[in-house]
Amino acid sequence: MKRIIQSLLGLGVLVGGAFLVYAWHPEIAKIEPPKPESFAAELVEKGRVLAGAGNCASCHTLKGGPDYAGGRGMHTPFGTLYVTNITPDVETGIGGWSEQAFARALRLGLARDGAHLFPGLPYTSYKNITDADVTALYAYFMTRKPVKMEEPKSTIPFPLNVRLFQAGWKLLFFAPTPMQSDPGKSAEWNRGAYLAEGLGHCTACHTPRNILGAEKTGAAHFSGALVDNWYAPSLKGKGDAALPWSANELYAYLRDGGSPLHGVAGGSMGHVIEGLNRLPDQDIRAMAVYFADLSGNPVDPSAQEVATLMARNGMLPASATAEEKRGEVIFKNSCAGCHYNPPGLPNVLRPELSLNSAVTGPDPTNLLRLTLEGVSIADGLKDAYMHGYAIGLSDANVAAVARYLRRTYGPANEEAHSAWNTLDKSVGALRAVGREHK
Ligand code: HEC
Ligand code: HEC
Ligand code: HEC
Repeated sequence: MKRIIQSLLGLGVLVGGAFLVYAWHPEIAKIEPPKPESFAAELVEKGRVLAGAGNCASCHTLKGGPDYAGGRGMHTPFGTLYVTNITPDVETGIGGWSEQAFARALRLGLARDGAHLFPGLPYTSYKNITDADVTALYAYFMTRKPVKMEEPKSTIPFPLNVRLFQAGWKLLFFAPTPMQSDPGKSAEWNRGAYLAEGLGHCTACHTPRNILGAEKTGAAHFSGALVDNWYAPSLKGKGDAALPWSANELYAYLRDGGSPLHGVAGGSMGHVIEGLNRLPDQDIRAMAVYFADLSGNPVDPSAQEVATLMARNGMLPASATAEEKRGEVIFKNSCAGCHYNPPGLPNVLRPELSLNSAVTGPDPTNLLRLTLEGVSIADGLKDAYMHGYAIGLSDANVAAVARYLRRTYGPANEEAHSAWNTLDKSVGALRAVGREHK
């Protein structure tokens, strides 16, 4: 018996020791901040474009705060994590970080001192960024204006806040090897895959997560997920919209923030498009090619197919409820003046709600929030704007409009999407979320 206990203890020490060896990473020594003049202007410019594609600002810049100085709270199911300052300030930012330390943070989720970072920094995607692109990003960030600003302490409770335990998470869910290019596919496809699965970290929002916050794999990859009170729709197969996404429509959406056959990019996707703006056309095209391929390369629908979907034209069935009929009146009075397309191809400036994933998808969050908050000039299409109805419509009226749109344009098989059953409750909760984000 004693022998067994002794060997079990021995095994425990061995496993624990092995874990510590795996989990422990050395500090990388502080450096004197490199002089901004030491970076070539073209390299800095390349880094600026890449920082847009990586959407660094949407997490690292607090609304109304100085660029990249952090402080934004990320709400996770476990508590609030505050994003760090990545300006080159030596004390509170990354001024003392060598390129090696910067690269290790982005690709392996390790701070300069060796502590594990939380996957709120999407290093699980950024691990795919090439050395050359990291070098350009480093040049860009080291030439920003240093800002002295300390982020608040995270509210993630003990023991989840113990950074060493993140090593356990990595052991379970993170393979640091970067993705390989696929020789069976075109150079364009591979470029798209590199941008989407790396810097673009599209999967961070569009893939559902398990209870430990790791992205699910296999069929779940890009199958749509609720994140930070927005629903990021499925990006493969038939998707969540009425029509599948062809390469042309993907290109229009990613380039201009809207596609006539789908609608516009609102919510957190608006910021993504703003960042992608800096990329050249061929990169946007490459991502469109990659995502169209994930969906089996659907061709553009025929005008007839589009017309059939649009011809449903907001007609409620005879069995409609009183709430749906009330929603119809509100829609015709408040929305239809703009959201009406005569027969033919829809005009992107008046998004055709019958084709929109906010109406046809499994979750009502986007429809409710876009109705309440509108779509700002920065989001969606350049120069287009829709004011919000947070003041104009009561919870019950927003719910009624959503119910009407869902009944006229949503899928016939309602049971699959039970989130639509509790619309009235959702409106109140999402109204509060919208206020917090203002
Ligand atoms: C989805 C949100 C998100 C995006 C996008 C993002 N970051 Fe971060 N980043 C974080 C969070 C959260 C942390 C802090 C993690 C922690 O404290 O464990 C962080 C930490 C870092 C750190 C470590 C800083 C330190 O002091 O420990 C660096 C460096 C960094 N990010 C650079 C970048 C760059 C460069 C980009 C764009 C290519 C980027 N981040 C995009 C959320 C994000
Ligand atoms: C004054 C014109 C106008 C009115 C009235 C209006 N909208 Fe909009 N709506 C727009 C425009 C323009 C956009 C696209 C904005 C952009 O791209 O920045 C839009 C976008 C939307 C979107 C996002 C669509 C997408 O593709 O994701 C939804 C949902 C929406 N409107 C619902 C409504 C509802 C519901 C009402 C009535 C309660 C309404 N709108 C009233 C002009 C209007
Ligand atoms: C920060 C979270 C986030 C990231 C990162 C993100 N998305 Fe999105 N995406 C969303 C949300 C939310 C929507 C819904 C927007 C709406 O309805 O207005 C969306 C919508 C879309 C749509 C339209 C889908 C539909 O059926 O309506 C496409 C296409 C898309 N995203 C592609 C991408 C690509 C490509 C990337 C990576 C370059 C990406 N997204 C990264 C959150 C994100």
